[in-house]
Amino acid sequence: MATEPAELLTVALGVAREAADLALRMRTDGVTGIDTKSTITDVVTAADKAVEDLVKSSLQQLRPGDAVLGEETGGAAEPSAGGAVRWIVDPIDGTVNYLYGLPQYAVSLAAEVDGVVVAGVVRNPVTGQEWTAVRGGGAWRAGRRLTCSAQRELGLTLIATGFGYDARRRAHQAAVISRVLPRVRDIRRFGAASLDLCLAAEGAVDAYFEKGLAAWDRAAGGLIAEEAGLRVTGLRGEGPGRRFVLAANEAVYEELHDLLVEADADGGP
Ligand code: IPD
Ligand code: CA
Repeated sequence: MATEPAELLTVALGVAREAADLALRMRTDGVTGIDTKSTITDVVTAADKAVEDLVKSSLQQLRPGDAVLGEETGGAAEPSAGGAVRWIVDPIDGTVNYLYGLPQYAVSLAAEVDGVVVAGVVRNPVTGQEWTAVRGGGAWRAGRRLTCSAQRELGLTLIATGFGYDARRRAHQAAVISRVLPRVRDIRRFGAASLDLCLAAEGAVDAYFEKGLAAWDRAAGGLIAEEAGLRVTGLRGEGPGRRFVLAANEAVYEELHDLLVEADADGGP
């Protein structure tokens, strides 16, 4: 089966659009099947599960043999190797927003070949906004190629971030914010990491950081941000991962990175 990034993106687009339509329909009908996961604030709904099931069965039909990792049902935990494809899906990123009827949530779907994300789509079912990227081919929305912010002064950066579901982690994240907030223009907490990365890709925020993201939160959005010119890393030379994700343009990257290290942003619980 083909593993060309452009072909994988075509598959991703078809599946993500259907998935987004289902998420929106289920929201209009009323949220059901509300349950909790890691903590009492970490929710899952019937829609999260139904959308993931739809994505998995569509991929199974279109690309039998590809591996899939999903937030709700797990699957291929290890990165793909030997030329194989692994799909990474967050059926609803921003489930708390979904629960409350806030329009900031997304379906995020990425294709990885040999452990490298090569194609990704993030779609907001409410607004219909859809961000895409293939590795080396730029990041796009509505036919427009995206470029990240050119802000050069850390003091003028608008930064998106997010918080985990564990109370002790949040206390640490709050302490980090108390160090960062006085040094930047302002902070935004929209509630969906994939969309935060897409907003950074189009310069609607200048940078983004968060500790504790899972692969499904960042796979598609991370590629889109990178393709729009952001540097997407962890801290102290690490790659982006569960420990930390920082996405910033080249001009402010070093200063923001050092501030985050000083604030122990990737430390704590
Ligand atoms: C969450 C959102 C949130 C981020 C959390 C994620 P979910 O994903 O992306 O913005 O701060 O770290 O877990 O639970 O809504 O899929
Ligand atoms: Ca989710």
